[in-house]
Amino acid sequence: MKELEDRIRAEGKALNEDVLRVDMFLNHQVDCRLMDRIGDEFARLFQEDGITRVVTIEASGIAPAAMTALKMNVPLVILKKSASVTLNSSVLQTEVYSFTKQNTYQLTLKGEYIRPGDRVLLIDDFLANGEAAFGASRLIEKAGATVAGIGAVICKAFQPGLEKLRNAGYKVEALAEITAMGEGFVRFAGEN
Ligand code: G4P
Repeated sequence: MKELEDRIRAEGKALNEDVLRVDMFLNHQVDCRLMDRIGDEFARLFQEDGITRVVTIEASGIAPAAMTALKMNVPLVILKKSASVTLNSSVLQTEVYSFTKQNTYQLTLKGEYIRPGDRVLLIDDFLANGEAAFGASRLIEKAGATVAGIGAVICKAFQPGLEKLRNAGYKVEALAEITAMGEGFVRFAGEN
């Protein structure tokens, strides 16, 4: 998505070879008009996949996922990173390790919000090692539903998540695919 790549180039800050800061339009301050067009793009990419639910993981996935759900006219389900007492019974959980944050959390879903037979589109802001996407997929599949697609706003294709998810058979689309980065530069797929 050219608009997103231009925005990353203009405002994103690669802190080093691994971490890109985009908190000025995606992770902290959110450009809702850009999110609107991101929703259009995901809806177009997955329009043939019979999607019945969009699912994301709190927190930074919520803005792009909400726009996508709106455009596809389906409900949005937000997976929690800890079990709240208000969720009480009938929760499904799986442990996820974050390489970037070096912590482990219990990804949590109240069973009734994803039903057997649902075809789920999983949307997240970043795809890096794929741990969050694999964890979310485990929960969705535990609920008896199918992961019909995975959409990442930004994919760091030099980290293993994209290839691992595709090798596992998932349809994965990224709106900006970064093949290399370092202080002061970001390279996208298709560029030299
Ligand atoms: P993985 O799920 O693909 O394995 O990724 P990893 O554990 O490495 O990343 C976990 C968290 O770090 C995620 O946020 C993810 O969005 C974020 N992240 C990964 N790489 C980058 C990066 O280059 N830049 C930025 N800004 N974030 C990155 P999270 O823990 O879910 O946090 P949040 O959604 O509550 O913000």
